[in-house]
Amino acid sequence: MSTMVQKTAQTPPQQIHTRRVGEWLYERLGLQGLAYAVPEHANSLPYLLGGITFAGFLILFVTGIYLAQFYHPEPADAHQSVIYIITGVPLGDLVRSVHFWTAQIVTVTVLLHMLRVLFTGAYKRPREINWYAGLGLLAVTLGFVFTGSVLKFDQEGVEALQHNKEAAEVIGNLGAWFSPELSRSVPLLTWLFNGHITILPLLFGLLIAVHIFLIKQHGISPKVTPDAVSHSTAGEGGSRFDIHLRRMAGYGLFVLSLALTLSLLFPAPLGQPGVAGAEVTKPWWMFVWLFPAEVAWGVRALVIVPVVLGVLLALVPLLDRSPYLSPARRKPLLVAAGLILVTIIISGVVATLQPVSAHLGG
Ligand code: HEM
Repeated sequence: MSTMVQKTAQTPPQQIHTRRVGEWLYERLGLQGLAYAVPEHANSLPYLLGGITFAGFLILFVTGIYLAQFYHPEPADAHQSVIYIITGVPLGDLVRSVHFWTAQIVTVTVLLHMLRVLFTGAYKRPREINWYAGLGLLAVTLGFVFTGSVLKFDQEGVEALQHNKEAAEVIGNLGAWFSPELSRSVPLLTWLFNGHITILPLLFGLLIAVHIFLIKQHGISPKVTPDAVSHSTAGEGGSRFDIHLRRMAGYGLFVLSLALTLSLLFPAPLGQPGVAGAEVTKPWWMFVWLFPAEVAWGVRALVIVPVVLGVLLALVPLLDRSPYLSPARRKPLLVAAGLILVTIIISGVVATLQPVSAHLGG
């Protein structure tokens, strides 16, 4: 008792005040409810990749809202409005660059997160539905990247838009949703901007709500050991969720610092205003691996290859139904997945070395 009195007497009044505000908020917000048990391994980096991706999305939403105040989604004004963001808007260049770099970091972390889930068998019963919610989130992430890359409306953006139009024709009636025919009053660029700032964020919100709800219901998948089997871990474990959340926030700050550093060293580029009909650029690295397939089979490859990969990913929980988590007990699936991954990486390297060639209108 006397030590407590001594301690309080030694603590500066400002700190006591801050602690009291903290305690007040803790109780009013019911934050003690976040201190539920989670397994220790949930705090390791591979099991934090989803949380890091989520933190990256928060940075994207904040920077994106700022950029949307100055961007003009009209084909005649779009490129000029990006120049204005870079040269005239307070901190515009920095905010745009942080948005640009965070988008790439998030693409890397979401893919690593999916590979972790695949490698540790975390999609097995009872987590199959969460695998599908995750696939939806992956599609939304790539949708954000694609629509975002069109918006700057430089040569790269204009070519991406042209590929969008031709790919929409390949899909036939279904593609009308992505084609200029959808609306005669709104240009496709404006429509893609609407998708980028309304439809995709809404889908993201719905899917992430399902994703997080299911993680809470089932707990994180058990630690992988030679004989571990998939089961619910809700309410089990030697660590606490509030500790997990703090780790997540720490990594989130790291992502922000990394994006800021990259932005200061390499600000987001902007090419010359796009010329319709010309094909002189290659897609961004997220899509460049599709380039050799496009050279070989034309624009239809841009629809067929992603659909085939999507179907294969959707089949994973249906094909691998044993309860075992150990990679050694799931060799055929992991070897097949590894071969596909290596093919994608080789395609990316070939695409980077290949000369630019025209495929549109063919
Ligand atoms: C925007 C994209 C995504 C976000 C923000 C996200 C977020 C999260 C978070 C926070 C977790 C908790 C554990 C962890 O961090 O590893 C998690 C788990 C999970 N995610 Fe994702 N995720 C995304 C995409 C995906 C994708 C693409 C897949 C797979 C196709 C996926 C499938 C799963 C599954 C099955 C779990 C449960 C894992 C376990 O219990 O070990 N998620 N996700």
